[in-house]
Amino acid sequence: MTDQGAPGASGTGETGAGGADGALPSEALPAGALPAGQRSAIVTGAARGLGRAIARELAIRGEAVALFDLDLAGAEETARLIASAGGRAEAFAVDVSDESSVREGVRAASERLGPPLILVNNAGVLRDDLLFKMSVDSWDTIMNVHLRGAFLVTREAQRGMVEHGWGRIVNISSTSALGNAGQANYATAKAGIQGFTKTLALELGRFGVTANAVAPGFTVTDMTRSVADRLRIPFDELVARESAATPVRRVGVPEDVANAVAFFASETSGFVSGQVLYVAGGPRD
Ligand SMILES: NC(=O)c1ccc[n+]([C@@H]2O[C@H](COP(=O)([O-])OP(=O)(O)OC[C@H]3O[C@@H](n4cnc5c(N)ncnc54)[C@H](O)[C@@H]3O)[C@@H](O)[C@H]2O)c1
Repeated sequence: MTDQGAPGASGTGETGAGGADGALPSEALPAGALPAGQRSAIVTGAARGLGRAIARELAIRGEAVALFDLDLAGAEETARLIASAGGRAEAFAVDVSDESSVREGVRAASERLGPPLILVNNAGVLRDDLLFKMSVDSWDTIMNVHLRGAFLVTREAQRGMVEHGWGRIVNISSTSALGNAGQANYATAKAGIQGFTKTLALELGRFGVTANAVAPGFTVTDMTRSVADRLRIPFDELVARESAATPVRRVGVPEDVANAVAFFASETSGFVSGQVLYVAGGPRD
């Protein structure tokens, strides 16, 4: 479909409001949409950290997961972990900032695992610096991976979602979207992800596709370990500092984020779209 002028196979997009008696619909999926087992879920940046936990959670919930990462060995390790727990996943070497790599990755995922009707844009990098020292290269790298990456993968994957009249897009933002010293590039990109998400919700809703963002606070991964290294403090000290500043008095673990992503990705979340959920141990606005 090129003009995307009409919803896909279902004709009506998301499941309607039920029977004349107001009963709940008996099926969460509209006619034409594919159930778990016949579709795939793409998770970008799935070689480690949040991406690995998200992929595992989706696999536990019955999705066949396509693991996109620059780090193929890491993505293969994620696939092994999922397989050993009885799930289905395959690793693909994809650079999300490269148009042809993304096109080939989505094509291969579709061929191997079924059409990708769930997409989690999670791949990310940091290039922290105070603005006066920030290089153009650092700025561009952040924009390319986070924004161009989410744009390219989403543009490619939404075609199948529209065709099938059903899809779930979950983008990983951050509390840094609200502003964070030393992260002018990253904060800008993560705020951009929120605008991107809301726009996807507006454009794709009538095709049965939802788009939401999860915005984690400080979560234990290699990314936050690299922050401690850059600040030249032990990781435990950084964790203690962040925990003390968080209402629930702890930092996040990848499973906290995976749980929120799985909610947005589920079949029964079709009436929730364009939202940003902070998974940060307390309120953010
Ligand atoms: N860890 C946190 O505290 C935290 C908080 C808020 C948001 N986030 C966001 O969550 C996401 C995951 O973070 P993480 O902590 O797991 O980071 P991580 O560094 O542990 O993992 C990121 C993964 O993305 C992959 N990646 C990087 N560039 C890529 C590219 N061009 N193409 C494909 N894959 C690429 C890396 O190889 C890596 O496997 C990122 O978007 C990050 O900005 C993390």
